[in-house]
Amino acid sequence: MINVLFISLGNICRSPMAEAIFRKRIEEAGLSGLVTVDSAGIGHWHEGKEMHPSARELLGQKGISIINHQAKQIQAEHLEAYDYIIVMDQLNLQDISAIAPAHTSRYQLFSDLISERAGEDIEDPFFTDNFEAVHEMLEAGCVELCETIKQQTQWKEPV
Ligand code: 4NP
Repeated sequence: MINVLFISLGNICRSPMAEAIFRKRIEEAGLSGLVTVDSAGIGHWHEGKEMHPSARELLGQKGISIINHQAKQIQAEHLEAYDYIIVMDQLNLQDISAIAPAHTSRYQLFSDLISERAGEDIEDPFFTDNFEAVHEMLEAGCVELCETIKQQTQWKEPV
């Protein structure tokens, strides 16, 4: 099993959007039985809350379903279980490295999945309101991650 965790500050915008987008990709690739997808927040402020209404609306427009999202805070002791721990910006990277320094070498910036956008932050739509730009970046990165996992699992095109 390959376990993927997306992390953002609040776990109501970027990370649950990434989770929903990536889950759809994985399902479409026929990899659901091999890959788990989850998301969590650096902070606890929104714990138990559903996704931001604008995020839900945008995903709905794109035909991406949301499975009962309930925001949760990351638990350092659970990080061991993930093969990919992907954060949205430099601030997340600093925060998670402070919270769980033992795994620092395993944290990955989302934009580094997209070679031409490597090193960029996925800007926080909670403050910018630009959900469309976030969606575009998340789609691009999820395509790349899905390809990487296909290679890792030696996935073959169905005949
Ligand atoms: P996210 O969005 O990190 O993309 O899930 C945020 C949600 C809430 C807050 C910040 C970011 N907040 O400060 O409450």
